Amino acid sequence: MSTRILSALLLAALVCKGVDAAFSRHSFPKDFVFGTGSASYQYEGAYKEGGKGVSIWDTFAHIPGKILNNDTGDVANDFYHRYKVTENCYWLVSISDDVKLLKDMNLDAFRFSIAWTRILPNGSLSGGINKEGVAFYNNLINEVIANGLKPFVTIFHWDPQAQAHKDYADFAEVCFREFGDRVKDWTTFNEPWTYAMQGYDNGAFAPWPAVRLYRSKYQPSQHGQIGITVVSHWFVPNSDTLADKRAVQRSLDYMLGWYLDPVVHGEYPGTMRGYLGARLPRFTAEQVKMVKGSYDFIGVNYYTTYFTSSAPPPKNGLQLSYSGDIRANTSGYRNGVPVGEPEFVPIFFNSPFGLRELLLYTDRRYNHPILYVTENGIAEENNASIPIKDALKDGHRISFHAKHLQFINHAIRDGVNVKGYFTWTFMDCFEWGDGYLDRFGLIFIDRLNGLKRYRKQSSYWIEKFLKR
Ligand code: NOJ
Repeated sequence: MSTRILSALLLAALVCKGVDAAFSRHSFPKDFVFGTGSASYQYEGAYKEGGKGVSIWDTFAHIPGKILNNDTGDVANDFYHRYKVTENCYWLVSISDDVKLLKDMNLDAFRFSIAWTRILPNGSLSGGINKEGVAFYNNLINEVIANGLKPFVTIFHWDPQAQAHKDYADFAEVCFREFGDRVKDWTTFNEPWTYAMQGYDNGAFAPWPAVRLYRSKYQPSQHGQIGITVVSHWFVPNSDTLADKRAVQRSLDYMLGWYLDPVVHGEYPGTMRGYLGARLPRFTAEQVKMVKGSYDFIGVNYYTTYFTSSAPPPKNGLQLSYSGDIRANTSGYRNGVPVGEPEFVPIFFNSPFGLRELLLYTDRRYNHPILYVTENGIAEENNASIPIKDALKDGHRISFHAKHLQFINHAIRDGVNVKGYFTWTFMDCFEWGDGYLDRFGLIFIDRLNGLKRYRKQSSYWIEKFLKR
């Protein structure tokens, strides 16, 4: 076992023994941002209201059999109507005030995305700008700021109507123009890897025209920052063999490097070029100029770690499966031992040490960028039928976040420039293909009773951890 893995395991053992009671927001740099995240399709609902056009996800979720239990985001968490209390209606008792809940948890920031078709109903400028949609986000942004939180806005979180780069750039421009006086933290794209692998098996150029536009036209007066959010697992070689170590590198290249190598170094990773040959487009000199350096910060979504071993020889091209493809074979177990914490987490293995490793790796390979952990979380499987008081007991989530924060803290002490941490997610919500099965939230939503919100124990833990 290499010294590096050994020291990581020792640190893991130390951290996992228990989290120091004095550990709190004060253990982090003063300007470190603590937030939680959401996305428009997963939260807003009101899919046909306020002048909104139909998005690809609206259409897709309505095709029988595509989503577990045929769930849809038509109503989702009804965030569109409930992000703030409706006042002055004597016949209507206000039922929730979501932004206030964020404030109650002492959070510094709220990450949300803008629904493309709420702004441009037919996807492009030709269909006009929907004033009601613009007003909704203006009100939301104002409410977030009024509650003392910073809005971290994702321009694209998987709910497009159009695909053209031009339409995306137009959409981004409306966002910069309308909201950029108050939004200072923009993300062009959320997890292009997931979107490409699950939607298209194809890279996406779209984010970069938006960065160029922002930098030339809006940043000089609005003084915000713009970045991209990528997702990656951490990978641990299954053995000390060179083949397994190479499999680890391939896995990182195909998940993280696919996007970060171009934006930082102006070219795809060598391993991808080697395996994919002509299937991987070559950047023109003009594209390299546009893509390279097109970020002020990098957002990293991290959920889990896998043991990784060499895969069978590559076939033609990139395959969609998560394991057994040309990257590597991945598994949560080695000789029957799980990769992370012994405690069971239904969706992913809980491997907090992997977050520190991923941050260190990203720091070194990508020239010491400003990093935000834009997502990190675990889910329960739908427990709608158990008594609510039991559904709110999420000690596993408390220990999950506490430990990941410990490892971020170590990464910062190692010199990595991590500036913020966002839990995924604020409230239980529509989890894409899994519908409402997986519950990642700090807040429980009673889907059987009017979408009533309840604070899980973890939300009180966060509140205490973040006490100023
Ligand atoms: C990735 C996505 O950004 C988010 O939309 C999703 O719900 C979480 N991770 C959990 O899978």
